[in-house]
Amino acid sequence: MKIVLNKATAEDFLRLKSLRLSALKNSPTAFGAKFDDLKDRPENYWQQLIKVSSWCLAAADGADIALLAVDRADKDRNSDCWLSSWWISENYRGRGISKLMADWVYNLCKENGWEKIGLGVWPDNKNAIAVYLKLGFELADGLMPSRSIPGLMYQPMYKSIGGDTK
Ligand SMILES: CC(C)(COP(=O)(O)OP(=O)(O)OC[C@H]1O[C@@H](n2cnc3c(N)ncnc32)[C@H](O)[C@@H]1OP(=O)(O)O)[C@@H](O)C(=O)NCCC(=O)NCCS
Repeated sequence: MKIVLNKATAEDFLRLKSLRLSALKNSPTAFGAKFDDLKDRPENYWQQLIKVSSWCLAAADGADIALLAVDRADKDRNSDCWLSSWWISENYRGRGISKLMADWVYNLCKENGWEKIGLGVWPDNKNAIAVYLKLGFELADGLMPSRSIPGLMYQPMYKSIGGDTK
């Protein structure tokens, strides 16, 4: 199996659309965004997403299988960058692809001088929390209010990579 990770460029907007909609359909409770809200968005919505975030797109033997977004963190996020939209197609889970994608993120962080990586996960997403702990993220003490779904709280998790990316 040949896994290729790349940072989405302007031409990749249809790849991003397809992966993101697959993620929202496959894992409807994992994300703040909802399939029905995004399924009919015009092309420029997807093109704009690529402009504002760094998207890691993963392909296995030429077929797209995974994505995640990395953004410069807003001040209230208590970190340098923020991960979101992380999803791997079910057939490819449990095969070490999350680690490859995490390494991709660490390289992006090094290029940008970012040392503290944050992300938010719903507290009941025990599987994702277990994966992030295994990748070296730590649970923040308290929950934070979601921006995408008012009323819900998310669990922040952080990893500092100042030279140590294990
Ligand atoms: C979250 C997600 C991207 C992780 O990818 P994955 O392929 O399932 O993760 P992996 O199997 O590579 O797990 C990474 C490590 O965590 C461990 N792990 C995975 N699930 C675990 C669990 N439930 N308990 C303990 N450890 C676990 C793995 O054994 C692996 O450790 P290893 O490197 O020592 O083998 C994927 O499960 C997914 O797309 N889930 C649905 C969408 C989602 O919930 N996204 C997150 C939104 S915040």
